[in-house]
Amino acid sequence: MVYVTRRETFNAAHRLYNPNYSDEENLKIFGKCSNPNWHGHNYVLEVIVKGKVDESTGFVINQKDLKKIIREKVIDKMDHKNLNIETDFMQGVIPTSENIVVAIWEQLVNEIKQGKLYSVKLYETENNYFEYRG
Ligand code: NI
Repeated sequence: MVYVTRRETFNAAHRLYNPNYSDEENLKIFGKCSNPNWHGHNYVLEVIVKGKVDESTGFVINQKDLKKIIREKVIDKMDHKNLNIETDFMQGVIPTSENIVVAIWEQLVNEIKQGKLYSVKLYETENNYFEYRG
């Protein structure tokens, strides 16, 4: 098996809060991330596809195709957007990196037909990253 990684970056705004809680409770749980006036992150996304090397192309997946899928299904919907308001597949969930990484997996898993989606990693900061493998 060969594991192929495509890296993309995007920046986005969000607010972490549970609408069932008061602003005070949200502040206690989510800290500065519950700021009602939003804040942003420069996210780094890594999508890993695993598979056998196709004899006729020498590829697991054509990087051109992988890039196009990630751009259309994820980056175009998140980059320079407010995740709480503008990203269709994030509606109704608290946009923590845990929830984002699962949602990105769901966006991609049926689109990748060469090889198989193996892992989605999301770096929120230099020190925090989140990984989902389905
Ligand atoms: Ni945040």
